[in-house]
Amino acid sequence: MVEESLTNKVAIVTGARRGIGKAIALKLAREGAKVAVTDISKEDCEEVIKEIEKLGGEGLALKLDVTNEEEIGEVVKTTKEKFGRIDILVNNAGIIDIEEIGDSSKINKILEVNLKGVLKSCNAVIPTMVEQKYGKIVNISSIAAMVCWPKIPSYSATKGGIIGLTKCYAGYIGQHNININAIAPGPIETEMLDDLLKKLGMTREQVCQGTAKGRIGRPEDIANTVAFLASDESDYITGQVLAVDGGYTAK
Ligand SMILES: NC(=O)c1ccc[n+]([C@@H]2O[C@H](COP(=O)([O-])OP(=O)(O)OC[C@H]3O[C@@H](n4cnc5c(N)ncnc54)[C@H](O)[C@@H]3O)[C@@H](O)[C@H]2O)c1
Repeated sequence: MVEESLTNKVAIVTGARRGIGKAIALKLAREGAKVAVTDISKEDCEEVIKEIEKLGGEGLALKLDVTNEEEIGEVVKTTKEKFGRIDILVNNAGIIDIEEIGDSSKINKILEVNLKGVLKSCNAVIPTMVEQKYGKIVNISSIAAMVCWPKIPSYSATKGGIIGLTKCYAGYIGQHNININAIAPGPIETEMLDDLLKKLGMTREQVCQGTAKGRIGRPEDIANTVAFLASDESDYITGQVLAVDGGYTAK
């Protein structure tokens, strides 16, 4: 019999209606977790729930704009009412935009979603995890926090901020048996990457050449790593940032 690594666990995934977040929600469900699939559009989340149910899993579609603290509180409350606990939080929601030098008009919005959204979601969930004496938090950063991708300074800064936040929290929630780690994806085939490449006038061939593996990543590459960091197999790993980038940062 195949053993599932997350049986009876309850997860919240943000930004899960499509792309990497959707792949994470499906993977966690496949591993046996009950998943609150959250995003700005509840209808799209319901479509993901249908896929989870086809896999024989269980989930809950909830509207969540991570800039809205009230909605974050509601998601925590509803998930606990439905499933009784919260074991896993995956902070995946994110936005990107191009900025020329001299343009300071976009930083506030990017900061609100990418960094403040992560902080607020952690803050809303950690008290429950402390009570349970158990929790796994996985924050989705980016290799843009480590190496230069052109014309995305605010995005890169917020993704660097996630790494700082992850290390800071790790230092004092570890005593409550809560692990918190960050994943820094390299280029992953999603609508976000497609949009970015178009705006930068970059080709997929150029991106592939930047990686050691010679290919663009798949959402499942990130989802598999999240499942590992959300499981007890990674119990002694906390406060770390793991690049899942096909060797992009190594090259
Ligand atoms: N695709 C890549 O190459 C890549 C690389 C590194 C990091 N990432 C990160 O991975 C994560 C997922 O990105 P993706 O590539 O799947 O992009 P995507 O645009 O397909 O998905 C992002 C999701 O976040 C949601 N979202 C946006 N604003 C939100 C808000 N205020 N509240 C809640 N949800 C919101 C969107 O609706 C969308 O479903 C992001 O944090 C992104 O920065 C992606």
